[in-house]
Amino acid sequence: MNYNKWFKKNITSLKGKTFIVTGANSGIGYQLSLHLAFLEANIIMACRNINKATKAKEEILKLYPNSNIYLEEYDQASFDSIERFALKIKKDYTHIDGIVCNAGVYFPKKDYKTEDGYELTLGTNYLGVYKLIEELKDYLNANKARVVLVNSLVSGFAKKIPLEKAFNLKRNALYNYSKCSIARFGYELMKENSDITYRIAHPGICSTNIISSTQTGFPTWFGVLGHKALTLFTHSSKKASLSLLLALVDDGEKKYITPRGLFSISGFPKRKLLPKFMDRPIKEETALFLLKNK
Ligand SMILES: NC(=O)c1ccc[n+]([C@@H]2O[C@H](COP(=O)([O-])OP(=O)(O)OC[C@H]3O[C@@H](n4cnc5c(N)ncnc54)[C@H](OP(=O)(O)O)[C@@H]3O)[C@@H](O)[C@H]2O)c1
Repeated sequence: MNYNKWFKKNITSLKGKTFIVTGANSGIGYQLSLHLAFLEANIIMACRNINKATKAKEEILKLYPNSNIYLEEYDQASFDSIERFALKIKKDYTHIDGIVCNAGVYFPKKDYKTEDGYELTLGTNYLGVYKLIEELKDYLNANKARVVLVNSLVSGFAKKIPLEKAFNLKRNALYNYSKCSIARFGYELMKENSDITYRIAHPGICSTNIISSTQTGFPTWFGVLGHKALTLFTHSSKKASLSLLLALVDDGEKKYITPRGLFSISGFPKRKLLPKFMDRPIKEETALFLLKNK
């Protein structure tokens, strides 16, 4: 299989459709935006750093000069920012077809917290996305839109403990827990009576800024070695982002999209049934938790 064949078989055009991609300026979100531009979709890049987002937009426009790309400020580690973003989307965009909740962090510096005082990994990767979906739900429903939640293959290793206790986990375990929580949230959302279509996707493994961002808790040498090893043994962020792209458009019964290779680490995407471990309710637990911590 090559890219041409893959696109021919799966998606040939998204002309006239509008999609939001969070964390669109880097890594998988950026590559997904490139694919969307290639398919002639309109793209709303939701990013916390408008300078970085502007550069990313310019890069995309060099390749696809006729693209319609809009930038919106969005910080998933701030409930206020999420609320402002959701209001702006509802006010400025009459229609959207889908949102890919891609923004995320992994292994940040110790004791880094969100603006609202939550541990950064769980606060950003789970509570931020939870808040975003809750803020946009009516609008997404009215638009019959699609939501793609971005999972990771490590979510199956998450500790089975209540959310309240998870904030004390070690940083690796926090990431696993945050991604598992997103998947459990998605699983529950799919059971709701709604016009929103939900999909869960994971990109496999690829080398991106996630191990070398300014927030990372990894030493520089680890980032350098990590990038080399990941480039050798895993796939590119270009290919990794295809799982998210397919999740945006696929209407099949199988609602989990992952790479098709060994252990789902790499390869073109494959549709799967949702794994059993995701079927553990979390929404009510989260709502109560947030209420208590207000
Ligand atoms: N890379 C992998 O192997 C892998 C595997 C499984 C799952 N994933 C998931 O894939 C997604 C994308 O990760 P990536 O590997 O592409 O990493 P990346 O290159 O670091 O991209 C992450 C994106 O999220 C943004 N972001 C981080 N915190 C944010 C916040 N508080 N508000 C708004 N945006 C924020 C980053 O913005 P800045 O540029 O401003 O930092 C960046 O645009 C993540 O959800 C990650 O968990 C990645």
